[in-house]
Amino acid sequence: MVVATDQKLDFGPARLSEAARIAEMSRRWIEHGLPWRYRPASIAGQIRDSETAVVVARAAPLVVGFAVMEFHFGARRAHLVLMAVEPACRRRGVGGALFRWLEKVGRLGGITQVRLELRADNEEARAFYERLGFHATERRAGYYDGREDAIRMALRIGGPRPARAACTRL
Ligand SMILES: CC(C)(COP(=O)(O)OP(=O)(O)OC[C@H]1O[C@@H](n2cnc3c(N)ncnc32)[C@H](O)[C@@H]1OP(=O)(O)O)[C@@H](O)C(=O)NCCC(=O)NCCS
Repeated sequence: MVVATDQKLDFGPARLSEAARIAEMSRRWIEHGLPWRYRPASIAGQIRDSETAVVVARAAPLVVGFAVMEFHFGARRAHLVLMAVEPACRRRGVGGALFRWLEKVGRLGGITQVRLELRADNEEARAFYERLGFHATERRAGYYDGREDAIRMALRIGGPRPARAACTRL
């Protein structure tokens, strides 16, 4: 894949027509060496699901980054399920921008905690999540297909909002 490093990216909700591309990126950059779980039909289901947000970064017309977050509004908790950026586009702020998009949706919906799991040996992603403010909460033995451990991480977001005097102007 060739992406000019100065190509302008646009961000937005994923289209159903992009499900296969996202699934392929998941297989290649996230699920490598494990059974392929997030296949096109599964990603399409996430795009259709009203309590899941799938956001992409495009070097038009190609998706070069994506992230999937499930919202559990009743529990005020969200789960960052998947996130990947094409190697040629990494370290340009794409992953951070995708996360901030989802975080904003979560805050608007009253979410106060985001959780995720990542492969225990994925030092790069761990550094990325720590930079976003996540901290490790536990290690889950054999979480991935009984073969690999996961690190669970969590981040507090939002929280109670101060009452606004400006409301009186309504
Ligand atoms: C993790 C990932 C999504 C980060 O995407 P990205 O677009 O490169 O991230 P950003 O450019 O927004 O990085 C923001 C900051 O995170 C940290 N960071 C990101 N990648 C890092 C790395 N490889 N090593 C150390 N720190 C890193 C840095 O502090 C970086 O800021 P800087 O570039 O100014 O130093 C990307 O590396 C990726 O797709 N990895 C493979 C898939 C994966 O592991 N997904 C996560 C598990 S589901």
